[in-house]
Amino acid sequence: MAKLTVHDIDVRGKRVFMRVDYNVPMEEKDGQMVINDATRIKETIPTLDFLIGKGARLILTAHLGRPKGQRDPSLSLRPVAEKLADLLGRPVAFVDDCIGEKVEKTAAILKEGDVLLLENVRYYNEEEANDPVFAEKLARVADVYVNDAFGAAHRAHASTEGVAREVAKKGGACAAGLLMERELKFLGDELENPARPFVVVLGGAKVSDKIKVIDRLLEKADTILIGGAMAYTFKLALGNTVGKSLVEADKVDVAKSALEKAKARGVKFLIPSDNTVATPVDSGKLNKKGKPVFELQSPRTNSAPNIPDSEEGVDIGPATGQTYEAELLKAKTVLWNGPMGIFEDPRFAVGTFAVAKAVVEATKTGAKSIIGGGDSVKALNKAGLGDGVTFMSTGGGASLEFLEGNELPGVAALSDR
Ligand code: 3PG
Ligand code: MG
Repeated sequence: MAKLTVHDIDVRGKRVFMRVDYNVPMEEKDGQMVINDATRIKETIPTLDFLIGKGARLILTAHLGRPKGQRDPSLSLRPVAEKLADLLGRPVAFVDDCIGEKVEKTAAILKEGDVLLLENVRYYNEEEANDPVFAEKLARVADVYVNDAFGAAHRAHASTEGVAREVAKKGGACAAGLLMERELKFLGDELENPARPFVVVLGGAKVSDKIKVIDRLLEKADTILIGGAMAYTFKLALGNTVGKSLVEADKVDVAKSALEKAKARGVKFLIPSDNTVATPVDSGKLNKKGKPVFELQSPRTNSAPNIPDSEEGVDIGPATGQTYEAELLKAKTVLWNGPMGIFEDPRFAVGTFAVAKAVVEATKTGAKSIIGGGDSVKALNKAGLGDGVTFMSTGGGASLEFLEGNELPGVAALSDR
């Protein structure tokens, strides 16, 4: 790795200011905010244990949700401090601010191995604005900076970017944590020279979200399997009709050029040959935003090239599921990002779960499988298959931006070796 990591720095007795991504899904239960999925907290434990073992005095900073500079109590990190204490098996102090006197006083009395979590850094607008004065205030309690927040590394914010500059100005090292290092290894180095065949599965709603990733992977992959609503824009590009399916009509040209590039490079680029379709029917109800709610009725398999006018594609079909499974079982490297259908509805989760199972099967027979965060991770966990893959990213937006080949600001800000 071109950047310093926690292995390279001396932290004994030093105040280590560490950015983590504790932006975890929460839900209100009996007036209390409870954490639905603690994966992002768990994944930082190795870095924390390592630094505690080396005698660091740890000050953790993170964001939760998008409070837009307001002190929204439902977005407090206090429940996260409790969860972290459980997972670490040691006390975690909490201060209800991220800058100022209270923070500085508490940081000053930390002993070697002590851990302090600061309140949601996005309670200040200056965080997202990457305000240098605010970054300097954050850096006041830092001798060293560690960034383990891969999931937020695509943001150039004060706690992910500006603070590194301030710490460096004072002569402090800025290093990647172990989770950050692992994410960059699997989503970066491991895909540079992948064992072949290298099979990529891409799903999700929009071609526009994924086109840069597709473009880049067309230069590396042997096979690309397309699913999700994105597939319907590709079907349009092939001259088929797609009924009421979700499409981006203005992205048909983009889809066409991806298909041409695939052909020119000899990449096997598969679009679903059949789909599960359903008929959207106005329920007469309105959602929270006042928009009409459509119920998806009478699901069936459509194996014809065109989708009838009254129907909408909601999943890949069974024949496509089998084709994709067969391709995945041949793979030596798999990258998967994005669901194949509306997997939140069990009727339309079949294709996504078929892919999940095939990825796990391929892993059992020796393939390296890398899951690029977000909904695919959710789907794997929902299928109870999360343990069956080589690596699951904790980043959603960050993993996509990184796979596009962008340098992440949170990584760029770290000290070079
Ligand atoms: C995420 O969950 O995507 C990261 O924590 C970043 O959060 P953001 O999308 O609100 O910047
Ligand atoms: Mg995001």
